[in-house]
Amino acid sequence: MSTLARLRDEAARLDGVSLQDVMAADLGRGADFALRVGPLYANFARQRYDRAALDALFALARDADLPGAMRRLVDGDIVNTTEQRAALHTSLRGDVSNAAPARDAHAQAQAALAQMESWVSRLRADPDITDVISVGIGGSDLGPRLVVDALAVPGAPLRVHFVSNVDAAAINRTLAGLDPRHSAGIMISKTFGTQETLLNGGILRDWLGDDSRLYAVSANVQRAGAFGIVPEHILPMWTWVGGRYSLWSAVGLPIALAIGMPAFRELLAGAASFDRHAVQAPIAQNLAIRHALTALWNATALGAATQAVLPYDERLRLLSAYLQQLVMESLGKRVQSDGQDVAGDTVPVWWGGIGSDVQHSFFQALHQGTQIVPADFIGVVRPDHHQAASHAALLSNLLAQSEALANGQDHADPHRRYPGGRPSTLMLLDALTPASLGHVLALYEHSTYLQSVLWGINAFDQFGVELGKQLANGLLPVLRGEEAASDPITHALVTEIAARR
Ligand code: F6P
Repeated sequence: MSTLARLRDEAARLDGVSLQDVMAADLGRGADFALRVGPLYANFARQRYDRAALDALFALARDADLPGAMRRLVDGDIVNTTEQRAALHTSLRGDVSNAAPARDAHAQAQAALAQMESWVSRLRADPDITDVISVGIGGSDLGPRLVVDALAVPGAPLRVHFVSNVDAAAINRTLAGLDPRHSAGIMISKTFGTQETLLNGGILRDWLGDDSRLYAVSANVQRAGAFGIVPEHILPMWTWVGGRYSLWSAVGLPIALAIGMPAFRELLAGAASFDRHAVQAPIAQNLAIRHALTALWNATALGAATQAVLPYDERLRLLSAYLQQLVMESLGKRVQSDGQDVAGDTVPVWWGGIGSDVQHSFFQALHQGTQIVPADFIGVVRPDHHQAASHAALLSNLLAQSEALANGQDHADPHRRYPGGRPSTLMLLDALTPASLGHVLALYEHSTYLQSVLWGINAFDQFGVELGKQLANGLLPVLRGEEAASDPITHALVTEIAARR
C-alpha cells in the first residue's frame, strides 16, 4: 500500500472518532507529543491524530524524502523549478551547508551584512537623524515590519516607520509629524519595478528634498540608479532569495536600524540554529517536519478550509499578516511542479489575530461555528514587563482557549453546548528575543517548504499575482478617459467613477 493510501486509511479510521476520544485514549500524549528546539517548545497533543496516524504521517515523510528535500534546499539545488532558481535564504543566516552554491551565497551575504553594518552604525550615531521611513511591499515590507514591531524598544536612537500601500493616505499619515531634515528613507524592492514602491518612493524622495538621505535595497541596481539613488547607497539582493524569505538579507536593514546590528545578528543566529535542527533532526523529532505533516493532515485528512494563527502576545500582532504572505503566496498553487493538477486541496486560508483581543471578536465562531478551524496558539513564558497579574491572565487565557476548543463542554441546552473537537498546536517561547523569534520564523519557512514538497508544488514562484497587476496597468489610460475598458462590467464601473468625480 502506498503511504498516501495508508494515510487516507488512517483518516478514514479516525473519521468518526472525536478529538476528545483520541485524547482520552492516550493520556501520555501531553508529554509525548511535544518537541523543543532551543527556546521554542511546541505541543501537538491537541491535534486529531493518534500514534498510529502519526506513524503513517512519518512514513509519508520518509516516502516523500522530506529530509532529502531539506538538504536540497540548503545546498542550493534548483527548488524553484518554474524559474530555475535556488532558494538560499538559509545561507543568509548561517552556514548549514558546505555545498558550493550555499557557500558562495553565504559569502555574498556576509559581505552585504558588513556593508549594512557600517550604514547602521553611521545612521544610528547621527544625531541629526531621528526617523527612518522604509518603503516596500509584500516580502519587502512584511518581515521587517513584523520584526521591528515585535522587538524595537522605545528610546532607541532611530524610530523606523513602514509604508507599503499604494493608497497615498498611508504615506501621508506616516510623514505627517515627521521632519524631512531629520529623516532618512529606504526603498526596498527586489525588482525595483513594483508600482506601489516606485510611487511611494517618489513621494518620499520629493518630501526628503535631498537624495543624500535616500537609500535602497534591490537586486536591480540599474533601475535603482535610474530612479536617482547613488550606487554607494544601494545594498544588494539576489535572485536566489525569494522576497517573502528575504528579511534575513539587507531587506532587514530597517530591523538593524531599529534594534541594532548585534540584535539583528542574534535574529539570524536564532534562525540558523533552527535550520540546523530542521536539516539534522530525524523525522520523528523534527519540528519543521511535524508542523508540516500536521498542516497536511488538517488540510487533507480533516478537510480544514482555514487555519488560524493566534499569538497571545501584543508584540506578535503582525505575525498573521506576515504568515499570510509566507504561506499563501508560497502554497496557493493548484498545479504540481510537473504541470499536473494537484489531487485535492492545497493550502487553507491563513488568518488570525492576537489574544486576548480576538476572544472578544471571532472566537465565538471558533467555539460554536459549523466550520472546524485548526489553530496555532503561540505564547511567551517570560514577559518583558513586571505586571505579573496581567501576564498570568494572558497565559491562563491562552491555556483555557486551547483546552476549551479541544474538550468542549456538554449542556442540556444546545445553545450553551460547546462541541469541542477543534484541533490546535500550542507553542511556547521561553521569552521573546531576537533569537527565539528567529526560531519561530524559520520554523514557518521550513514547514511551508516541506508542505510544498508533500503536495508536489513549487513554494517559490507567485505567478498568480501577475494578472491583476497587468490589468491594473491597462486600466490607467481607461481611468484617464483615453481608452475604453474592454470588459463590459469594468466599463460600467469606470463610467460610474467618471460620473461621480
Ligand atoms: O506580490 C508579489 C510580489 O512579487 C511579492 O512576492 C514580493 O515580495 C512583492 O511583490 C514585492 O516585490 P519587490 O520586492 O520586487 O518590490
